[in-house]
Amino acid sequence: MPTILITGCSSGFGLEIARHFAARDWDVVATMRTPREDVLPASERVRVLPLDVTSADSIAAVVAAAGSIDVLVNNAGIGFLNALEGTPAEAARQIFETNTLGTIAMMQAVLPQMRERRDGVVVNVTSSVTYRPLPLLSVYTASKAAVNAFSDSVAVELAPFNVRVRVVLPGRAPTTRFGENARALMTGGFPEPYMPLVEQVMAGWQQDTGPTTSSEDVAEAVWRAVTDISAPAHLPAGADAIAWSQAG
Ligand SMILES: NC(=O)c1ccc[n+]([C@@H]2O[C@H](COP(=O)([O-])OP(=O)(O)OC[C@H]3O[C@@H](n4cnc5c(N)ncnc54)[C@H](OP(=O)(O)O)[C@@H]3O)[C@@H](O)[C@H]2O)c1
Repeated sequence: MPTILITGCSSGFGLEIARHFAARDWDVVATMRTPREDVLPASERVRVLPLDVTSADSIAAVVAAAGSIDVLVNNAGIGFLNALEGTPAEAARQIFETNTLGTIAMMQAVLPQMRERRDGVVVNVTSSVTYRPLPLLSVYTASKAAVNAFSDSVAVELAPFNVRVRVVLPGRAPTTRFGENARALMTGGFPEPYMPLVEQVMAGWQQDTGPTTSSEDVAEAVWRAVTDISAPAHLPAGADAIAWSQAG
């Protein structure tokens, strides 16, 4: 069976994508910053390997250990919510290093073997926030919008080598560890002049009873991106993301 390598499998979408492909008998390389064997079904088809996408050494080690990779899913990512004035430069750097440069570095490490084999698929997980401008999310959105544009451009140069690049854009998924992990980065608090806006945004979320996105929605969208050659370049995942993609 083909081999899929997924980044950020310790929780949320990455973990569900790993389970989804493992259940369909794929060989799965589930990577995590801190490897845990107990979160995935015990199977000789599933390997858990360490990977921090911000470390060149870690990337080189995982690609060497993984062997042949047919599909790469760049899912690892971190969130952040604040006004731009409340966003420390170090936080902005960390967000781009993980969400944007981590994706670029992973592709640079894996593409040579795909190009030589004339076969491969890369799926980059971005976000439905790139469909519309939202306050307090400027840096996070920029880190993901950059991946959308990067993916579309690199897809053109890889097409002659039969390497496909797809983007999956999930909607809001309150059930993953995303919010909790983002809050760990958000230590400085919100600047006082922006507090009315922050309260308005938080209240809006609390009142929002509309659809959200599940990890299963994202795993299914990644499955389609990988297995359906006619899948569009950008696939929204989750009812809310699909609605936003159609709103134009
Ligand atoms: N949840 C949402 O509402 C939402 C919506 C749209 C898009 N997304 C995107 O979907 C992706 C998955 O998010 P999620 O909701 O599943 O959140 P999650 O539960 O927080 O999962 C994120 C994963 O990324 C990993 N990660 C973070 N930094 C890393 C690094 N430097 N190297 C390797 N792995 C790293 C985390 O590992 P650790 O356990 O080591 O921290 C974790 O496994 C992210 O790219 C996120 O931006 C999320």
